[in-house]
Amino acid sequence: MAIFTNYLFEFSCIVISIVFGLYLYVKYVAFNYWSSKNVAHPKPAIPFGSLGPVTKGKRSMGQMIADVYAEYKKNPVIGVYNLTSPALIIAKPDLIRFVLTKEFAHFHDRGVYCNEKIDPLTGHLFALPGAKWKYLRTKFTPTFTASKMKQMFFTVKETSVLLANAVEQNAKKSEVIEVKELMARFTTDVIASVAFGINCNSLENPDAEFRTMGRKIFEPRLVKRILGFLLPSVLQFFKIPIIDETISKFFIRAFREAVEYRTANNIVRKDFLDSVIQLMNKGYVQNDNDKSTVPAKELDDQKITLIQGAAQAFVFWIGGFDTSSSTVTFCLYEMALHLDIQDRLAEEINQVLQEYGGVTYESIKAMPYLHKVVSETLRKYPVIPMLNRVCEDDIELPGTGLRVEKGTGILIPVLGLHTDPDIFPEPEKFDPERFDEENIAKRHPYAYLPFGEGPRNCIGTFSLLSSYLRVAQTRLKRTILSIFSRQV
Ligand code: HEM
Repeated sequence: MAIFTNYLFEFSCIVISIVFGLYLYVKYVAFNYWSSKNVAHPKPAIPFGSLGPVTKGKRSMGQMIADVYAEYKKNPVIGVYNLTSPALIIAKPDLIRFVLTKEFAHFHDRGVYCNEKIDPLTGHLFALPGAKWKYLRTKFTPTFTASKMKQMFFTVKETSVLLANAVEQNAKKSEVIEVKELMARFTTDVIASVAFGINCNSLENPDAEFRTMGRKIFEPRLVKRILGFLLPSVLQFFKIPIIDETISKFFIRAFREAVEYRTANNIVRKDFLDSVIQLMNKGYVQNDNDKSTVPAKELDDQKITLIQGAAQAFVFWIGGFDTSSSTVTFCLYEMALHLDIQDRLAEEINQVLQEYGGVTYESIKAMPYLHKVVSETLRKYPVIPMLNRVCEDDIELPGTGLRVEKGTGILIPVLGLHTDPDIFPEPEKFDPERFDEENIAKRHPYAYLPFGEGPRNCIGTFSLLSSYLRVAQTRLKRTILSIFSRQV
């Protein structure tokens, strides 16, 4: 018994010493990083560093970074700690341009979780680092041009008619409409069609498998999400997959079946799935203007595998459906609050549609006020409230005297910039005139970043057009907006 008590005592002393040693290390060494570099920073707290408000569920990650930006924005750069890892917020638009564009070679990766072995669907454009990202980005860029968008416009238009019908039915019955859910179903149907070639029809069947999986992906799993975005090394070390196995299996199966169906039935549709299949079969995507009947040489070493193809379809799906459905939801919300803006918008939409004889790709582009309204929505509610990059090689940030070390996480406070009263006076006010040409010209181009910037910006920027279409469709349905206003 006495020996056992002695062992227990010694063991407790060792544990206490280790914990105390770690405490001293974190407090005086790890948390001294930004002080030693003379970088302004909020005081970190053990054990979460700067993430305290996020881990307590009081602020989202984007809001927390915006709060720090608002408090310290006089400084060109601001230090924070993701647990004990130092990360740098870039606060000045000129420096943001330096990171995102001018010195892109030093900051080309996001440094988020990507592990093709444990989690095959994470091998996609958003997460892949270095050469693999560059290869895929170059290959997919032709898929996201205006001419491709025009070819896919038919799907968007067809589905938007179903959306209008669904809204009409709800409105007639004076039912409460969960706008976010309705928009998510609309976007799910569009992207499932163009990325997976599937007619999933979640607008009519809210429990369609694609929609169910969509809900599952965005279920709150705070710890995994924070780690995946800010500290992927922890997940990598413990080999923890970030995507649920059922989701992974579902998407790989759906993608495989779609490819097999198109191949077996010789179906060619000019959509994302077609581009992915071309990359799998030939190693390149044929240019639309290339009418040659002589087949180009297949590039065996550049072909992608079925799993790599599935990962790209997956990112087009998750990248596309929540981003644009949230944007439309917030836009309709603001329209419900501001009937004057809604009326002006409805007038423009009705007039242009009359002129063009209905909804077409060109007519949607000819609606400047709609453009302003959606731009203002993305200012107030940026779907991705902060951008991240990782420093690939030590580099000095001009005008700061700071040499950023390799491996340092970089954060761009998009929400902070968009709600900064020095850049956008009265930031809480919804004012589409901020996107008047003259007002745009007065602002720094890197102070408004809903789609990011530089070579790694959003590949789907064109999708804004499909958001316009959805807002435009609601012109027929003023009733929905007034019902919505009553509920606000
Ligand atoms: C309102 C709609 C959308 C918004 C606001 C949005 C926003 C963004 C932002 C902020 C980024 C990060 C950019 C950066 O780090 O500089 C991004 C990346 C990306 N987005 Fe979007 N997005 C939208 C729609 C879409 C759609 C429809 C797709 C695909 C069909 C898409 C696919 C992607 C992909 C693949 C990336 C990663 C690009 C890369 O790393 O090369 N997005 N998006």
